[in-house]
Amino acid sequence: MAVIDGNRIAAALIAELKAEVAAAAGRPPCLALVRVGDDPASISYVRKKGQTAAEIGIESRNLLPPATIDQAALEGLVESLNRDPGVDGILVQSPLPPPLDERAVFQRIAPEKDVDGFHPVNVGKLAQDDDSGFTSCTPAGIMELLARSGVRLEGKHVVVIGRSLIVGKPTALLALRRTANATVTVCHSKTVGLPALARLADVLIVAIGRPAFVTADMVKPGAVVIDVGMNRVADATKKSGYRLVGDVDYEAVAPRASLITPVPGGVGPMTVAMLMRNTVKAARQRRAPA
Ligand SMILES: NC(=O)c1ccc[n+]([C@@H]2O[C@H](COP(=O)([O-])OP(=O)(O)OC[C@H]3O[C@@H](n4cnc5c(N)ncnc54)[C@H](OP(=O)(O)O)[C@@H]3O)[C@@H](O)[C@H]2O)c1
Repeated sequence: MAVIDGNRIAAALIAELKAEVAAAAGRPPCLALVRVGDDPASISYVRKKGQTAAEIGIESRNLLPPATIDQAALEGLVESLNRDPGVDGILVQSPLPPPLDERAVFQRIAPEKDVDGFHPVNVGKLAQDDDSGFTSCTPAGIMELLARSGVRLEGKHVVVIGRSLIVGKPTALLALRRTANATVTVCHSKTVGLPALARLADVLIVAIGRPAFVTADMVKPGAVVIDVGMNRVADATKKSGYRLVGDVDYEAVAPRASLITPVPGGVGPMTVAMLMRNTVKAARQRRAPA
């Protein structure tokens, strides 16, 4: 068994992006980060995104409307960023405080600045194997982890557990692309016989949000296991009072797997790195002559 080191792979990607930004002519790429309200997790995610942008040489702008902002005003803010020629990428940090309609806000983002890849135009381009769009960051990060770990998907059976719009579904579409050529099974909460399907996987990708859901008996010996889950479980020995665990019972599954991602330090660091890659791509595409 070997561990896929997401921190190391993300650092390599960040170094490559830094070199690309340094070599490009003109102003640096610019990422607008919209954080509504003061949710502590959102504060820390947006801070991390701004820090990584700075490390690469991407300019970031923080827009911090209060949780009381109404739907029309928030969509108006997004529209103003769409029109701003100095902004290449727009990220609206999820989750938005209720009663704001997150999906409606995401749909307001101009597709060519939608670096999170949630706009229907970008989801459609993913389904059509059209590389001009933006792929959501966690699924793109999973594919990058696999590629940089030497895992080729062609002819392999990939089983994805979870069908969310943010992780499961786009991951399945990426594995199915003609450039990847996996055979894909997608499982969800209504799947019958899930353990037997999981056991068929050459590559098992788990994104459900249930601590230690995948046990050793659900994994084929030698499988590659990608654990997307990020679950907080109470831990009095930690200063924060909790620790992060994945959706896979790591200690039991790791000895059976050929490759496995840890939590933390697996998929997580790749998500921010891929956001940066999308931002650099947005800037490059916006500058290319029409
Ligand atoms: N590492 C990262 O950067 C990153 C990024 C995003 C998310 N995550 C983590 O990944 C996990 C999943 O996130 P998400 O946004 O995809 O979650 P989500 O929107 O809640 O979707 C969860 C999916 O899992 C399925 N599911 C739930 N319980 C199940 C069960 N017992 N058996 C089979 N399927 C089950 C659901 O099925 P139904 O569709 O039938 O309800 C759904 O499709 C979470 O722990 C989240 O924190 C990590």
